[in-house]
Amino acid sequence: MDTEFRSQVPAVTPAMLSDLRIVMRRMADLGFTEASVEGALGLRPLAYRRLSSILPYRARLMAHGALGIAIRFWLLQEFLSLEEARQGLGDHAISVLNQMGWLHVTSAGLRSRVDLYPCCGRYFFTDSANNAFPWPEQVYWLGYDSYTLAYCTPRQPRARALDICTGSGVHAVLAAAHCEHSIGLDINPRALEFSRLNTRLNGLEAEFHPSDCYQAVTGQQFDLITLNPPFVPTPNQVPELYRTGGDSGESVTRRIIEGLPLFLRTGGLFSMSTEAPRRPGESPVDRMKEWLGPGWGIVGLYKQDFSIEEYILGHILGSDVVEADRADEFERWLDTYRQEKITSMTSAQFYALRLPEGSPGWSWERDYPPPYTDQSAFLGDWLAALQAWHEPWPGDFQPRLHPAVRQIYWADDCALVEWNGTHWFPSPTRLEAAHTRALRKALQSADLTGNETYVRQLGCSCILTPP
Ligand SMILES: C[S@@+](CC[C@H](N)C(=O)[O-])C[C@H]1O[C@@H](n2cnc3c(N)ncnc32)[C@H](O)[C@@H]1O
Repeated sequence: MDTEFRSQVPAVTPAMLSDLRIVMRRMADLGFTEASVEGALGLRPLAYRRLSSILPYRARLMAHGALGIAIRFWLLQEFLSLEEARQGLGDHAISVLNQMGWLHVTSAGLRSRVDLYPCCGRYFFTDSANNAFPWPEQVYWLGYDSYTLAYCTPRQPRARALDICTGSGVHAVLAAAHCEHSIGLDINPRALEFSRLNTRLNGLEAEFHPSDCYQAVTGQQFDLITLNPPFVPTPNQVPELYRTGGDSGESVTRRIIEGLPLFLRTGGLFSMSTEAPRRPGESPVDRMKEWLGPGWGIVGLYKQDFSIEEYILGHILGSDVVEADRADEFERWLDTYRQEKITSMTSAQFYALRLPEGSPGWSWERDYPPPYTDQSAFLGDWLAALQAWHEPWPGDFQPRLHPAVRQIYWADDCALVEWNGTHWFPSPTRLEAAHTRALRKALQSADLTGNETYVRQLGCSCILTPP
C-alpha cells in the first residue's frame, strides 16, 4: 500500500499563503496552463496522462526547460534534484512546500505529495492521481470529468451557486468568480480542507460545509447547481468516496437530481458531468425526466461510450486488488452490472433548466465532441437558443440565418452548413431533404406552416436565430 502521499492538509498561515501565491504567479509566468501542458506532453487532454508512459513524457519534457520540470513535479510526481527544483519551481516553492509537509525528500531527490492542476486560468491542489492505489478519503484529482464540467458550465453572473460533491472545490471556486455567493459541499472532510485552501489560493471567497448531498443547505435555493458525482457502478465493499456510486452508479446522482425542484430556483441551471449507465430502451435523459417530473428543459451531450468489460477492468486496475484476485473481482463487478442491466457506460455532460411556471418541458440529446478548451460561452448561448425555440414563437416571427453560420452550400435535396469560428458540430454539417426545404422556406420568408418542427430543430442547432 502506497501511503507516502497521504499527508495532512496543513493550516496555512498568511505568510505561507503569500508564498504559495508567489509560486502560482511563477507557474502562470511559465505558462503552466492546460494548453501548454498538453503541448509539452504531446497529449490531449492532460487528464489522460498515465505513469506507464513516463519514458516518452520525460523525453518530450526535456525540451521545455522550467515548464517541463514543473510538469514533472506537479503532474507526474517525479523526483527532482535540488538544482532542478530551484530552476523549475523557485526557492519559494521548496521552502513553503517543505513547511506544509508536502515535500517528500529522499536520497532520490524531492517530489511533491500533491498534484497541482491548471484549470480555466486558476490553480488547484489535490491528492495525487499518481498514488498507486486509491484510499477511501482520497480527494479526487482533476479528471477529464472535472475539466468537462469546468469547460461546459455557462459562466454568466448569478446570485447563488452550489457545487455538490465538490472534491478539490474546483467548480465552487470557478463559480465564485461570477456569482455573488458560492457554496461547496462534500461528505469527505479532507476534500473540504483542499477546497478551502484552493479558494484562498485563487484569491476568491466561497463557503464549504460537510454534507451528505443537500443536508447542509436545507431550505435554501440556488441559481446554479453544479455536480460531478461519484458515478462508478460498484459492487459492495468498494469504499472510495470519490467514485463509488452504488450498484447502479447513480445512488448519489439520483438523490441530487430528485432534490432539484426544491433547491434550484425558477430560471436556474443544473450542470452535471458524469459517466452514466446505458440500458436497453432507456437513455440517461429518460431517467432524468422521470426523477424531475414536468417543467424542465433537459439536455444530454454524449462524449464517449465504453463497453462495460473495459470500464470494469479500468477501475479494477486502479484499485487495491492484488493480481491473484483480479479475475474473481472482475466477475463480481460484471455480476453487478448485469443485475443492473447496464450494457455500456457513457461519458457525458447534462443540463437541467428550471423553466418558468407553465412552460412545456422539453429534452434534447446528441453526441458531442469531447471538449478540450473552455466552451462555456458557446454552450451558454446554445442553451439560451434551445430554451427560446421551445417557447411559443411570436405570431410575426420570421427566422434569419444565425451569425454562427459562415456559408451554406445548396444542392437539390440537401445542404451543407459551414460554421463561423464558433465551436459547433461537424463542419460542414449536412442537412437532409426535410431540413433543407424548411431552411429555404424560412430564408425566403415563406409560410412555415407544416414545417415548424424542422424549423425549430434548425434553430436549436444555431442555424436560425432564436425567436
Ligand atoms: C468524482 S468526485 C468529483 C470532485 C469534484 N467535483 C471534481 O469535479 O473534480 C466526487 C466527490 O463526491 C463526494 N461525495 C461522495 N458521496 C457524497 C455524498 N453523498 N454527498 C456529498 N458528497 C459526496 C466525494 O467525496 C468526492 O469528493
